[in-house]
Amino acid sequence: MFRLFVLISAVSAPLALQPAAALSTSTAPAVSWNDWVSLNASVGGRLHVSGPLALPCFSSFAGHPTHPDPPECAAIQHNYTDPLFRSAHFGAFMNPQWEICQTTDAGCVLDSADPTDPSAFTGVDCELGNIAPAYIDVQAVKDIQAAYTFSRKTGVRLSVKNKGHDYKGRSAGRNSLSLWMVFDAHFQPETCNTSYRAITIGTGVRMEQLYQFADANNVTAIGGYHRTIGTGYFLVRGHSILSPVYGLAVDRTVEIKIVTPDGQYRTANECQNSNLFWALRGGGGSAFGVVTEITVRVEPRLTLQAAIIRLPANASLDTLAAWYELTVNNSLRWGEQGWGGHITAASIIHVNPLLNNSAAQSSMQVAIDFATSHGGSGLVDELPSWYAFFEKYVTSAEAPVGAELMLGTRLLNTSLFATEAGRASLSTAITNLLPFATPYIIVGTPLLYPYVEGTTSVTPAWRSALWHFGFPIEFAFNDTAGARQTIYQEVTQHVQVFRDLTPGSGAYFNEGDVYEPNHEQAYWGPNYARLLQIKDTYDPDHLMDCWQCGTSGTYLVANHGSS
Ligand SMILES: Cc1cc2nc3c(=O)[nH]c(=O)nc-3n(C[C@H](O)[C@H](O)[C@H](O)COP(=O)(O)OP(=O)(O)OC[C@H]3O[C@@H](n4cnc5c(N)ncnc54)[C@H](O)[C@@H]3O)c2cc1C
Ligand SMILES: *[C@@H]1O[C@H](CO)[C@@H](O)[C@H](O)[C@H]1NC(C)=O
Ligand SMILES: *[C@@H]1O[C@H](CO)[C@@H](O)[C@H](O)[C@H]1NC(C)=O
Ligand SMILES: *[C@@H]1O[C@H](CO)[C@@H](O)[C@H](O)[C@H]1NC(C)=O
Ligand SMILES: *[C@@H]1O[C@H](CO)[C@@H](O)[C@H](O)[C@H]1NC(C)=O
Ligand SMILES: *[C@@H]1O[C@H](CO)[C@@H](O)[C@H](O)[C@H]1NC(C)=O
Ligand SMILES: *[C@@H]1O[C@H](CO)[C@@H](O)[C@H](O)[C@H]1NC(C)=O
Ligand SMILES: *[C@@H]1O[C@H](CO)[C@@H](O)[C@H](O)[C@H]1NC(C)=O
Ligand SMILES: *[C@@H]1O[C@H](CO)[C@@H](O)[C@H](O)[C@H]1NC(C)=O
Ligand SMILES: *[C@@H]1O[C@H](CO)[C@@H](O)[C@H](O)[C@H]1NC(C)=O
Repeated sequence: MFRLFVLISAVSAPLALQPAAALSTSTAPAVSWNDWVSLNASVGGRLHVSGPLALPCFSSFAGHPTHPDPPECAAIQHNYTDPLFRSAHFGAFMNPQWEICQTTDAGCVLDSADPTDPSAFTGVDCELGNIAPAYIDVQAVKDIQAAYTFSRKTGVRLSVKNKGHDYKGRSAGRNSLSLWMVFDAHFQPETCNTSYRAITIGTGVRMEQLYQFADANNVTAIGGYHRTIGTGYFLVRGHSILSPVYGLAVDRTVEIKIVTPDGQYRTANECQNSNLFWALRGGGGSAFGVVTEITVRVEPRLTLQAAIIRLPANASLDTLAAWYELTVNNSLRWGEQGWGGHITAASIIHVNPLLNNSAAQSSMQVAIDFATSHGGSGLVDELPSWYAFFEKYVTSAEAPVGAELMLGTRLLNTSLFATEAGRASLSTAITNLLPFATPYIIVGTPLLYPYVEGTTSVTPAWRSALWHFGFPIEFAFNDTAGARQTIYQEVTQHVQVFRDLTPGSGAYFNEGDVYEPNHEQAYWGPNYARLLQIKDTYDPDHLMDCWQCGTSGTYLVANHGSS
């Protein structure tokens, strides 16, 4: 395995690291200094040495003394769990365990529960951990082409990062050269030849910017439940709470521009490079190349009914069991009426673009009554647009970031909800899970969407599922690798109950169990074999492999941060 060392000067200020990423290994030719210099020249000087986000809080970096920078550290502590702050830093991920080496515990994180907790950084060596030591701030197609050339010549693995949301750590990459794709936040609304309207987004665009732009143009972009989610959402099937009516992100993608590992800049759509287009609609992260632009269909401005139903924070486990049971009992009806949303222990937040306010109110009355009778609240609010809903209800309630967090998930068949026996078995499984974890259920499957068979490469299980069922589990910032492994195993075991309830179904690649068993089947089902062929066509040398991207047998656990 190659080793990429960042050589730092012991006296330099943390952010003025010497630009001396050098490859050194006993088993392979080292990357010469000249290789780095010429790479930097060919990318217009945009090759950077990376650094951990929290480095200014530490007194030691990679075994060398360094000077902490108290004002800078205070700013980092203050903003540690802010997704906008994190997405602006190359060395930060939404779930910071991906900044930590998964086998050695080397890393540089703060205590997210209290970022000022000195035990995180006092007498602790800050290390790069799982962060790529060098990255290119990609601004042009030729930057990507230069990275491929460099990788082929030197054997240094490539990774691709956008906003850093990946729950499986695929946008991190110890010892890799990273392509940071946050450039070109432009929008290009297009009235296409065909009968749809679409928006073209550069990879720097955040969800919230997309929504804002669409709103200003009187249209609706269908997307995720978070301000900062980026490109990875569109590439890997992304669900929206509007997906039950308007489809998955892959259903709505009409064109992708990509630099494939042979260096070609290609346009993929239904008439050009259509095999590649099919693969990109769900095939996996960066497995087929580096994407520069994505064009997605938009809908007219929508009037939405939003059900906002909350339970009190002190609800007992028995109350929670009944709460989830109520949602199991009613979800199929809700889905058929056009509702999509999230169900948690704290709330049901659902939206509906099909019903009027009084119909929406009576549809949700059973849940509102349950909540109010247990000391909670409920209402159905009519909003003039998706953006209005997003600003009023999502920006304040989106999933928190900055803590070490993993997910266990499963796509649950619609058929399970259609019989009394199915509902009973699901309710029992949820009740049994409650002492270990509280479910975070996403009703974001394309239940009513008129899918054209064969147009995307996601597992067909999405098409026969009602819930993307999941539960989050947190690590402590200072958990050992052994402790993390134990938690991973427990999560896999608990998800198994739901796998057993839904044989033949699958899981969501972006939000799956990190150690999803038989992940090729779970994420792609019968589409896997064709994906593998397309991978072999476009990336025969496997420059673009990533963890459980399912596209080769050659990637290793090493990709996940072991040395
Ligand atoms: C707080 C939070 C909320 C979320 N909410 C939702 C939600 O509502 N709906 C939903 O479907 N998902 C949701 N997700 C999951 C999210 O969609 C995925 O994690 C998605 O991959 C994030 O994309 P990113 O670009 O921000 O992340 P990154 O981690 O930067 O990248 C994700 C993947 O895409 C690859 N990639 C990124 N840019 C490119 C590129 N230009 N070319 C090629 N490959 C690239 C990366 O290599 C990596 O494999 C959420 C995640 C978090 C942490
Ligand atoms: C790349 O070149 C630019 C401009 O010449 C320089 O500022 C930067 O430090 C160089 N990067 C590295 C990693 O040496
Ligand atoms: C971070 O926190 C500080 C306060 O410590 C604040 O002044 C600053 O604006 C915040 N944001 C960024 C991007 O640093
Ligand atoms: C639009 O359709 C016309 C007529 O079919 C065709 O000549 C033209 O090339 C199309 N334009 C684009 C951008 O596809
Ligand atoms: C959006 O709709 C409003 C109200 O109908 C109109 O005033 C405005 O010009 C429209 N904007 C665009 C960009 O079409
Ligand atoms: C929950 O808290 C409320 C006050 O916030 C209190 O009235 C109620 O009795 C509590 N319920 C339980 C089950 O403890
Ligand atoms: C769910 O449905 C079952 C079977 O009809 C019923 O026994 C149970 O009381 C219902 N639970 C709730 C909370 O509605
Ligand atoms: C709302 O929708 C229902 C069902 O379609 C319909 O019967 C009712 O008349 C509508 N109410 C209003 C106020 O439009
Ligand atoms: C559940 O969905 C999967 C995937 O679509 C399918 O193979 C399986 O037959 C379904 N099971 C039931 C009971 O409907
Ligand atoms: C982790 O940090 C917390 C908070 O500082 C501390 O209470 C705990 O003992 C630490 N655990 C380990 C394993 O070091």
